[in-house]
Amino acid sequence: MIELQAARKAYGDKVAVEGLSLAVPDGEIFGFLGPNGAGKTTTIKMIAGLLRPDAGRVLVNGIDVRAEPIRAKREMAYVPDGPDVYEKLTGAQFVNFVADAYRVERAARQARVAELAAAFDLGPVLGDQIESYSHGMRQKIVLMAALVHRPRVWILDEPLVGLDPRAAFTLKTMMRAHADGGATVFFSTHVLEVAEKLCDRVGIIAQGRLVACGALDELRSCPSESLESVFLELTAG
Ligand SMILES: Nc1ncnc2c1ncn2[C@@H]1O[C@H](COP(=O)(O)OP(=O)(O)OP(=O)(O)O)[C@@H](O)[C@H]1O
Ligand SMILES: [Mg+2]
Repeated sequence: MIELQAARKAYGDKVAVEGLSLAVPDGEIFGFLGPNGAGKTTTIKMIAGLLRPDAGRVLVNGIDVRAEPIRAKREMAYVPDGPDVYEKLTGAQFVNFVADAYRVERAARQARVAELAAAFDLGPVLGDQIESYSHGMRQKIVLMAALVHRPRVWILDEPLVGLDPRAAFTLKTMMRAHADGGATVFFSTHVLEVAEKLCDRVGIIAQGRLVACGALDELRSCPSESLESVFLELTAG
């Protein structure tokens, strides 16, 4: 469960997000859409506890991210919009480093790392330094590290970028299974076909304000209208 209550964030004079309120309940995949610069990453960083809202509140599973950041972060996986990782570590070292930070027990960790490595087909390169990884391999290791502590709430900023079709399919399947298991998935994307197929509800942000939020059927003006046409209409100008 994620709740934003009138969240606001400005960078100097530039207001990036204003009066943003939304709730994503358990069991839901929520797609966060909007033009470049609309405020998606800023919002996601407020949820993840990397940016402090100037006003309003963010709750993750009922925990105020600002008041109790460590407790809140235990509940979450955060995948940033670009896979910046420690290049001199091997993939296995990086995942173990993150697992240490989240206090994942040894036995549980081994099983989880094996499961994720198999899912993303990364087993053969886990012993290699990350500097030798391709862009997509880096994205996969970041996903593995984010998911290693089995968080309930997934917060993913453009998670499919750079993934090959099989890995993208795997991740989408994992997202669906996670939500169907009663947990929460919040992700941003520019790929409206993915949002259309995968999301239970979507939110559209433009110039820092939420301009639409709901199930696709609620946002369409007629049953045959595409999400692309809804998006273009709501974000024009
Ligand atoms: N560190 C920063 N300093 C100043 N302004 C920033 C900073 N980060 C973002 N902004 C501004 O805040 C606004 C929202 O940016 P944000 O990164 O949240 O957009 P976004 O919706 O994630 O865009 P994209 O689709 O390109 O990823 C933009 O106007 C951007 O220029
Ligand atoms: Mg962004």
